[in-house]
Parts: sequence; structure tokens; C-alpha cells
Amino acid sequence: MRIVVLVSGTGSNLQAVIDAVKDGRLDLEIAAVGADRPGTYGIERSAAAGIPTFVVDFKAYPDRAAWNAALTGAVAAFAPDLVVSSGFMRIVSADFIEAFGGKYLNTHPALLPAFPGAHGVRDALAYGVKVTGCTVHWADAGVDTGPIIAQEAVAVGDGETEESLHERIKVVERRLLVSTLASLAPAQKPEYPAHPTNSQHGPF
Ligand code: GRF
Repeated sequence: MRIVVLVSGTGSNLQAVIDAVKDGRLDLEIAAVGADRPGTYGIERSAAAGIPTFVVDFKAYPDRAAWNAALTGAVAAFAPDLVVSSGFMRIVSADFIEAFGGKYLNTHPALLPAFPGAHGVRDALAYGVKVTGCTVHWADAGVDTGPIIAQEAVAVGDGETEESLHERIKVVERRLLVSTLASLAPAQKPEYPAHPTNSQHGPF
């Protein structure tokens, strides 16, 4: 399974995927990592890991449609089986998702359908919920909508700040993203029969 990961920021979720691939917990290839703006740490860490990178700068295009078309082309060039929005802070169009057969995975730091949008952690905290968490889902063209694949709850502590809560959610989110990708990656086929025939051992 080949994936392209899209990031807008630090890419710590992406790093969890890179690490899991590196130490063999995840059997897939990160074909490329893309960003919607220059200068992200997510791109820097991908380049350091030897992964091809690209930037389709939202601000360099006259409108969203032009940017979306450029992003679709840039991702398609790597022929992924699956595209992952991992802290990618842009909404893509239905055309983009269709171009990849609907295989567009998103992670969100709240228990969807509660608290969608760019400030899921802040909004959950402001509402006063005692439990929030994270969601991995198939994304459609809406804001954090589409079929849910996995969720995990995180209890909100006393005196919690947006930063402290988000950091604790991200610890769980990284694990959930890796385990979800593992469940979607087809199992590795053994190269040789499990029980070699006598002829492979030669005469005794
Ligand atoms: C994650 O919590 C993601 O769900 C949210 O932004 C955060 C990105 O973190 N949209 P990172 O860039 O992976 O460190």
C-alpha cells in the first residue's frame, strides 16, 4: 500500500507513521508528503527521513479550485492507494477525493461529530466536556465529516489548557492513526511456502 500524507504543521502524527514504517510495525510505503504552505516542520522531517516532498502553496493560486486542481495533480503523480490528511488544515473538493477513489483518511482531535473544525480542542474545552478524544475517519468534502473508522476517548483534567489537552490527545491520536493504517494495509504475503517441501531441503 502506497500512501501520500498531507500536512500543514509540525507533523508529529506523520512522524509516528514514519517511525512505525521504519521499525516494521506498519507495512506500507510513504510515497510522498505534501504541504499547503512552505516552511513546515512536517516537510522538513519527511525530507530528513528521505521521503519525497512537495508543496502546493494555497496562497500561490488565484482561487480554491485552481489550488485544488494543482494539489490533485501533485498527489496523483505518486499514484497512492490512500491519502492521509494528518494535520492538513485545508478542505479539499469532492473532485480530489474522487480522484483517489474516496480513500482520503483524516484525523481529528475531538470525538466527531462533536467539535469539528480547526479548533476542536479549544471548542471542547470551552463547552466544558469532561471527555473528548480523537477520531480517524474517511473524509468527504465537508468539514471533518465522513464515515468514522476509529475513535478513542481522553478525559479532560482539572485546570487543563488547550495546549496540555491537545498534547495528551495527540499521544492517543498518533497511536490510533498507526493502528488504523495497519488495519487497512493488506497483510504481507509470505515469499515462500510456510512449510518447505522435502525437495527444497535436498536428500538426507
Ligand atoms: C492533530 O491533532 C490533528 O488532528 C489536528 O492538528 C494536529 C496536527 O498535529 N488537525 P501534528 O502536525 O501531526 O503534530
